[in-house]
Amino acid sequence: MSILDVRGLSVNYGSVCAADKVSFSLSPGQILGLVGESGCGKSTVAFGMLRLLGAPAHLSAGQVMFQGQDILGMDDETLRALRWKEISVVPQSALSALNPVLSIGEQFRDTLAPHGAEHLAVEAMERVELDPKYLKSYPHQLSGGMRQRVVLALALALSPKLVVMDEPTTALDVVVERQILARVLALQRELGFAMVFVTHDLSLLMDFATDIGVMYAGRLVELGPASSFKAGGRHPYTQGLRKSIPPGLDEDRAPYSIPGAPPRADQPPSGCRFHPRCSLATARCAAEEPPKDHFTVQGQANTARKSVHRVSCWELNNAS
Ligand SMILES: Nc1ncnc2c1ncn2[C@@H]1O[C@H](COP(=O)(O)OP(=O)(O)OP(=O)(O)O)[C@@H](O)[C@H]1O
Ligand code: SF4
Ligand SMILES: [Mg+2]
Repeated sequence: MSILDVRGLSVNYGSVCAADKVSFSLSPGQILGLVGESGCGKSTVAFGMLRLLGAPAHLSAGQVMFQGQDILGMDDETLRALRWKEISVVPQSALSALNPVLSIGEQFRDTLAPHGAEHLAVEAMERVELDPKYLKSYPHQLSGGMRQRVVLALALALSPKLVVMDEPTTALDVVVERQILARVLALQRELGFAMVFVTHDLSLLMDFATDIGVMYAGRLVELGPASSFKAGGRHPYTQGLRKSIPPGLDEDRAPYSIPGAPPRADQPPSGCRFHPRCSLATARCAAEEPPKDHFTVQGQANTARKSVHRVSCWELNNAS
């Protein structure tokens, strides 16, 4: 059974639709990576589905079910009770997530006391390989990597079932990023939480996500098991992203970037929003949006879980 079901979620900022009828579901223990270029709506979906966006954001359509409970319909108090205990969020910037005038210990107390779980602070620090002596420190006394570990420790302290991470390591150098991600993965296996992980970095996701969702200009254009993305992905945009991964030092290929630029959110192209940049585009692509329920389904040879691979593209659907 799914732990999270997002159905047709649309989020507007005023008249601008930043997420357009986005649907996916997540099983316990599943790691869904959401990827796409800057401004495509990843954070809007990740925070919008949890009602964490303030004005001018407006959830204009859709349904979000968490363990059978209607997130968008529930009262604020019920939603607050789920935060940290059942669902937690790790944002990109630990600096903005932590209160600069409170010690780390005080921040744990503020988060855990309402759940009667202050005693879990030391264990939470140890989980992320931070010495509990840093509970006495203030955020500015820690390095960027340590601060991000603190935010992670806070997010995992109550062993939530769903953790949403929005580019949690983008601000860190590559070595620290990999160390923290390795710890996240180890904890994910140990604690078994499901995760939505937002990033620009498709190659990173191919290393650890179980599933990948590709967003373009507010729409989820491809969704499927990570294994099929290693083979290149199917949507023309995904293939462009895949080709844009910088070549390794021992690879004999030229760097690639997708021609053109993503559209402005307030001026999305007609039809398939990728059509001005797509080498396969036809007149139909410019005129009609590829249907979301008209996806290619692939058999998955090497996963026990039955997976559906969805691709929103006229040409692929014609070919299937
Ligand atoms: N508070 C806001 N008010 C108006 N428009 C916004 C607001 N926040 C985001 N947007 C717009 O919504 C669109 C999606 O933004 P979002 O932050 O979700 O993208 P993203 O994929 O997370 O990008 P990034 O990779 O840069 O974090 C963008 O066009 C952005 O300009
Ligand atoms: S629908 Fe058309 S424009 Fe869009 S990705 Fe497919 S082929 Fe390209
Ligand atoms: Mg973002």
